[in-house]
Amino acid sequence: MESSKQHLILIGLMGSGKSSVGRHLSALTGLPYLDTDWMVESQMRKPITEIFSQFGESRFRELEHEMVCKATSEPEPAIVSTGGGAVISPANREILWKRGLVVYLQADAELLFERTSRDQNRPLLHTENPKARIAELLEARAPFYEQADLIIPIRGKSVQQVGGEILQRWQPSKND
Ligand code: S3P
Repeated sequence: MESSKQHLILIGLMGSGKSSVGRHLSALTGLPYLDTDWMVESQMRKPITEIFSQFGESRFRELEHEMVCKATSEPEPAIVSTGGGAVISPANREILWKRGLVVYLQADAELLFERTSRDQNRPLLHTENPKARIAELLEARAPFYEQADLIIPIRGKSVQQVGGEILQRWQPSKND
């Protein structure tokens, strides 16, 4: 049976707070929290950095696609957090937009850099100039992120505030 547009799907670049907001919403609503990065790591039993270095980004993208399908096929509503690059794939976009309310956690490159600069498990930022890389990724992906059903600017807001804004617009409903 086709899943309906029932999940809450968080998109946005690395550092936009998808995981923290997703876990917070899960605690508030009692819905399961699924994180496609975490699902890839758990299937491969390796951190993302190692998956990239051993198998390459294209293999990671295949696994990410499998997890996007799996996470959004759950029959009951869930909070689904996606990796920052999941929206690049037209197939992922089709599934995500069909099966959930897509929420973009929007932040500028400066803030995203501040929030990711101490984290080593982000292979795309293992470059000489991670700040420029973030700006580049944001520019390339913004057209996809901006197609979200709901855009929440996050600068200056706590996880609780962002979660509250989302819940004003989305309430989980059970399938009939
Ligand atoms: C990526 C973002 C990461 C992870 C992988 C690739 C990207 O997820 O999927 O390192 O392409 O932007 P987060 O956005 O959760 O950090």
